[in-house]
Amino acid sequence: MKNLQIDIKNALPFIDTEEFKNYDKYVKEEDRKLDVKTGKGSNFLGWINLPETISADLITEINNTAEELRRISDIIVIVGIGGSYLGSKAIIKALSGNFDHYKNDKIQIVFAGQSLSEDYHYELLEFLKNKRYSIIVISKSGTTTEPAIAFRILRKDLEEKFGKKETAKRIVAITDKSKGALRELANKEAYKTFVIENDIGGRYSVLSPVGLLPIACAGFNIKELLSGAKSMMNFSQSQDFKLNPVYQYASIRHALYLKNKTTEILTSFNTQLDVFNEWWKQLFGESEGKENKGIFPASAIFSTDLHSLGQYIQEGLRNIFETVISVEKTKFSLKIPADMENFDNLNYLSEKPLDYVNKMAESGTIEAHVDGNVPNIKITIPELNEYYLGQLIYFFEKSCALSGYMLGVNPFDQPGVEKYKKNMFTLLRKPGFEDL
Ligand code: PA5
Repeated sequence: MKNLQIDIKNALPFIDTEEFKNYDKYVKEEDRKLDVKTGKGSNFLGWINLPETISADLITEINNTAEELRRISDIIVIVGIGGSYLGSKAIIKALSGNFDHYKNDKIQIVFAGQSLSEDYHYELLEFLKNKRYSIIVISKSGTTTEPAIAFRILRKDLEEKFGKKETAKRIVAITDKSKGALRELANKEAYKTFVIENDIGGRYSVLSPVGLLPIACAGFNIKELLSGAKSMMNFSQSQDFKLNPVYQYASIRHALYLKNKTTEILTSFNTQLDVFNEWWKQLFGESEGKENKGIFPASAIFSTDLHSLGQYIQEGLRNIFETVISVEKTKFSLKIPADMENFDNLNYLSEKPLDYVNKMAESGTIEAHVDGNVPNIKITIPELNEYYLGQLIYFFEKSCALSGYMLGVNPFDQPGVEKYKKNMFTLLRKPGFEDL
């Protein structure tokens, strides 16, 4: 079976290759800290063995819950913010197709509580009018303002529609085992719940019920996702640098960072990966951006953004490197038709698959950007399915943890996120924050 591949040959000319040889030892030392739990934030390493340790019973319970929610709903609303929704949204988008048609079922997954937009949530209520819907509310702390407000609004709407008893059957809460307002409410109302373990942080939680339940609700195979992740977990344990894609990615991005390549743009020529880009940005941004350090994670979908950001990438400030996720095989085939009149002068492409043109755009872009002094890392997966998305998820999670350690920061906390909350609470005169 083919697996995720990494190609760093277009990044090596931008670093000192002699020095890079030291990364073999360096990355293993950092990896050892993850293994023996002596690094920063080592009480948040529950995600590392998750693809292996998650129990068959829990997977069955998740699948059964998803089946029941699908039975009673046309729409499932996922309420959460940051790590509590980005992973599932990324996978669902990558697998659903650009117009949702490919899923071949009627269930629609929508998201709420990722913003405080009055219009968004008003429009959502309008959209949900006269529809059978259910809610999965996800918050590890159980107290995050954005999802808490969205949940309050939606719960009231459900209760008005279905009454309290029926509503309780339409709500699943994923939260801490014992702490937080959401846990208290879930216990009081007897909602079905799943636990976010103490040692798994939000942005590393996609392979726990946080990501798995919404993905299963969307009709996708979570066992395959976990099996792909498990295979990457095994590759990431290889002590041979050349056979370990995680070691290579974490090392090359750190080496580039030391050469002042301080912005990484994750790109793809596949439009379905746009939300995956968002998940990746959160993972790396929240994990690395601290103590005035870190690579700034940016993203683009090509060729779309070649007509917006392309100019900057080619000729702007030279502090950028690019990581492209290349998908070998398309799901469907579509050939460019022949046209006798050839007014558009496209007959040189007649009968060629559209993806052939897309792949040439990909190769041409990589070459142009490398020529323009933008180092390139290429990650290839055979196709967009649960298995390879599982590989990608684990690949980035482990790389991010190692990369954070190389940088000398704790990749599992996010102290900087508190600052805006305090200011907002003071302005809102939240009890306890009035005088801060
Ligand atoms: O990665 C993280 O830990 C954060 O992005 C959280 O997921 C996010 O802040 C939401 O937190 P909570 O699940 O407690 O509502």
